Amino acid sequence: MTQLAPQRRHPPDWWLVLSKFMRQGTAIAALAPSSRWLALAQLRGIDFEQARCIVELGAGTGPITAALLSAARPGCRVVIVERDADFCQRLRQRFPQADIAQADALELESLLAQRGLTTVDHVLSGLPLPSFPATQREALLKIIARRLTPDGTLRQLTHMPWVYYPMYRGYFHDVQFRLVSFNLPPGGVYVCRGWRGADASPPAPNPGE
Ligand SMILES: C[S@@+](CC[C@H](N)C(=O)[O-])C[C@H]1O[C@@H](n2cnc3c(N)ncnc32)[C@H](O)[C@@H]1O
Repeated sequence: MTQLAPQRRHPPDWWLVLSKFMRQGTAIAALAPSSRWLALAQLRGIDFEQARCIVELGAGTGPITAALLSAARPGCRVVIVERDADFCQRLRQRFPQADIAQADALELESLLAQRGLTTVDHVLSGLPLPSFPATQREALLKIIARRLTPDGTLRQLTHMPWVYYPMYRGYFHDVQFRLVSFNLPPGGVYVCRGWRGADASPPAPNPGE
């Protein structure tokens, strides 16, 4: 009788995220993967017929990635960036065809250059931006602003509805907030357009997130 190799069981996504949050806190900044409703709110309004390049930063276990990859048209380059090795492994298992870079979001400029990409239509961010050091946050937002097309958007997740609205308004002329109650915890999305420019001096964020 042939012996079957023991099956390796993966912990569920919610456990992987929660256990990392317990150990790494604000570097993960989520108790659980985003809900389907939060994913849909982050994508709402994207013209998938026109989009040629969409980047996701801080993909975690991939709830937004799943919605993005199923909405994107074949001609659209989708680049997924996640720093954590375990999350990347899970993303690669789940989306074997996807372009997944295990990297720091601050390397965005070189990640785009390596792929021959110069402009991005939309950036979907799950990054805990408020807990980044201010200089790093501003550096990353500048890169994003430089690469976005004129109608492009930064779509930033939050688990603290409205709290960071002034911070994003400090960086962008136009910030729309979308509340999403069906999420653990309730959250939302800041849809940001129109970089204010190099001399914008945004207020210091509250700690947390
Ligand atoms: C709040 S979780 C969001 C996860 C996922 N997008 C979701 O909606 O469930 C933040 C994610 O950003 C990742 N992250 C944090 N800092 C990062 C950085 N500097 N570069 C790339 N990823 C980062 C974390 O590892 C984590 O997966």
